[in-house]
Amino acid sequence: MPHKADILLVDDEEALCVAAEKILLKEGYRVTCVHTAAEGLDRFQRDGADLIITDLALPDQDGLTVLRRAKQLRATVEVIVITGHGTVEKAVEAMRLGAYDFIEKPLDRGALLKAVAKAVEKQRLTAENLRLRDALEQIRGEEALIGNSAPMLAVKKLIRQIAPTDVSVLIQGESGTGKEIVADAIHLLSSRRDKPIIKISCAAIPETLLESELFGYERGAFTGAANTKPGKLEVADGGTLFLDEIAEMSTPLQAKLLRVLQDGRFQRLGSTRDTQIDVRIISASNVDIPHAIAGKMFREDLYYRLNVVHISLPPLRERTDDIPLLANHFLQKYAARMRKDVRAIAPAALDQLFAHPWPGNVRELENAIQRAIAVTTDATISSFILCAPLPGLHGNGSSITVPVGTTLEKTEERLIAETLALCDGDKEKAAKMLGVSSRTLYRRSAKS
Ligand SMILES: Nc1ncnc2c1ncn2[C@@H]1O[C@H](COP(=O)(O)OP(=O)(O)OP(=O)(O)O)[C@@H](O)[C@H]1O
Ligand SMILES: [Mg+2]
Repeated sequence: MPHKADILLVDDEEALCVAAEKILLKEGYRVTCVHTAAEGLDRFQRDGADLIITDLALPDQDGLTVLRRAKQLRATVEVIVITGHGTVEKAVEAMRLGAYDFIEKPLDRGALLKAVAKAVEKQRLTAENLRLRDALEQIRGEEALIGNSAPMLAVKKLIRQIAPTDVSVLIQGESGTGKEIVADAIHLLSSRRDKPIIKISCAAIPETLLESELFGYERGAFTGAANTKPGKLEVADGGTLFLDEIAEMSTPLQAKLLRVLQDGRFQRLGSTRDTQIDVRIISASNVDIPHAIAGKMFREDLYYRLNVVHISLPPLRERTDDIPLLANHFLQKYAARMRKDVRAIAPAALDQLFAHPWPGNVRELENAIQRAIAVTTDATISSFILCAPLPGLHGNGSSITVPVGTTLEKTEERLIAETLALCDGDKEKAAKMLGVSSRTLYRRSAKS
């Protein structure tokens, strides 16, 4: 039978040690007895223990010293103190210093066992919590980023290297490649992990609103500003600000953001007072920013500030090695979530996954698995329903013919209209196909 816990008993009274040891051994604990504080701490440092039971009046040093030093060596160790006559104040002091409990001399078998059982249970829970926290940290951090293909290993290595620093990071990658997950991983592996990561999408919010969201405003700054509101920049103070779809930010706002990056200051709308903040900026884009710079849509100076570290996420079709790993990961995740006993993917179905071009990348794969689990009645997924590949990318969709000399405006109008038609009017989907944000698509299709 495995012993219940390791107990270190520190008492100079031989008779007490023998008696206590006998009681505890019989209950399945493993006990080590020593007679001085120095020996006790020596033992603890060398062999550890789950629980220390120490007398308060030891020949060489105070029992409180044993308590204090042991807690310094290992914060999770539990300590029970033994009090004799006239040491009640000391017992109180011991509790204040973090002792779990105290027992009085002469030792009572029942009291001893009860105190020990409770302390051991507490120790076990603490250790378990710590273990869970570590595991969670890993799950939520880098480990959540599934993928062992060469490009993903390179990405993970880069994340590990740069996460602890405060440098700005720009993450580039097609839609669904995991940009947000990477931003989370960087934050969680940084020293800012106890502070928030605040996320804001520059595409989802209209421009004027984006400005007030970011910088906040003073009461009366504009009509409707009834109360002062801190911006996301302030809320993220000490933590990380994730600026998604950064290429969609207007150039005037880019100029303001540049100032924040340069000297960590900004003003709330309607305020003349500078606010100082300490925020790490991680931004993401699924369009090529140098391209936007060439078209004067993006400030080059801001780009250099944001892009101190560049992380490029490869599309799934360029790392098909990761497909089985990702597929199994999502299989476990959604089977558990839907409480379905789905355990495997049949070889033919896996072939299907390998053959698909994955224009929607990991998100598309995740959705495909989720859908398959929802509909299957088997423990094995035998086939997937995958969306038809995108036109243009694979050459089997519809196409438009544009005579040379057609204006760009007309061409764009036509392309948008046809793409929308192909997507049954689904603007989100059409925007994705066209490689622009839905906001851009709204703007441009509104024009035509
Ligand atoms: N390497 C990965 N391991 C595990 N899950 C992943 C990975 N990459 C992406 N995912 C999952 O795929 C989905 C899309 O990821 P994410 O939102 O990070 O993509 P994105 O690049 O930000 O996409 P978009 O540009 O459309 O915003 C999420 O549910 C995410 O959990
Ligand atoms: Mg995203």
